[in-house]
Amino acid sequence: MSDPQRLQHLAILAGPPKLSHDELLAAQKETLDRPRRPYGRAASLLFNALDTVYGRERTLGKFKVLELVARVPYQSWEQVAYVAITHIHEKTGMARRIYERVAESRAQQDNEQWHLLIIQEMIDNARLEDGRIKFFWIPQMLAWGYYQLSWFLFVLRPDWSYLLNADFEDHAEHEYMELVAEHPEWEHTPFISEFADDYGHFDSRADLFRQIGHDERVHKIESLNRLKRPRFP
Ligand SMILES: [Fe+2]
Ligand SMILES: [Fe+2]
Repeated sequence: MSDPQRLQHLAILAGPPKLSHDELLAAQKETLDRPRRPYGRAASLLFNALDTVYGRERTLGKFKVLELVARVPYQSWEQVAYVAITHIHEKTGMARRIYERVAESRAQQDNEQWHLLIIQEMIDNARLEDGRIKFFWIPQMLAWGYYQLSWFLFVLRPDWSYLLNADFEDHAEHEYMELVAEHPEWEHTPFISEFADDYGHFDSRADLFRQIGHDERVHKIESLNRLKRPRFP
């Protein structure tokens, strides 16, 4: 691994950087000023399906579904990498480098997991409607299908899986930043959470969601950076 790759690897393991209030404001503006990626067919299909089932309105329930689905590409990459280690374990140098990919996928999954748990906690605290079929069973099916697709694309051609994930993360980044813009009252809503010590402390709910939006941007960049790297170094 070259020095720049080593730095990139360490940055992924550390997770997306936590930004100050001013940096979060600047990040939100940058996202809203930038057009969305031209999404591929699979990503567009998924976003249309989400709009059809959950409506176009940005609700916490819909973001919870997004987060449930967001974790699975990282799980599929982790699984493929572990299988690869099973096959090539005799070449210990290569096995070690593949393991570094496993560790990266795990760190990205963990970050998504905090997003999911924080939103679920908010839904619970606000006693928002969280119907079983719409917010449990359909998301489970979506996550299962998306896992298979990410896995299949990764096995076929890893770049296709990375591009699909980049589309997904770009969509999430824009959706979170738009969500904050739609809720000016959140600038004065405190962020109190059982998960604050794990994920981070923020001055307001608006900053929390800006940070999550920025995390999604970092995930997108990490996926796009992988396009330039060999499948397994
Ligand atoms: Fe997320
Ligand atoms: Fe993400």
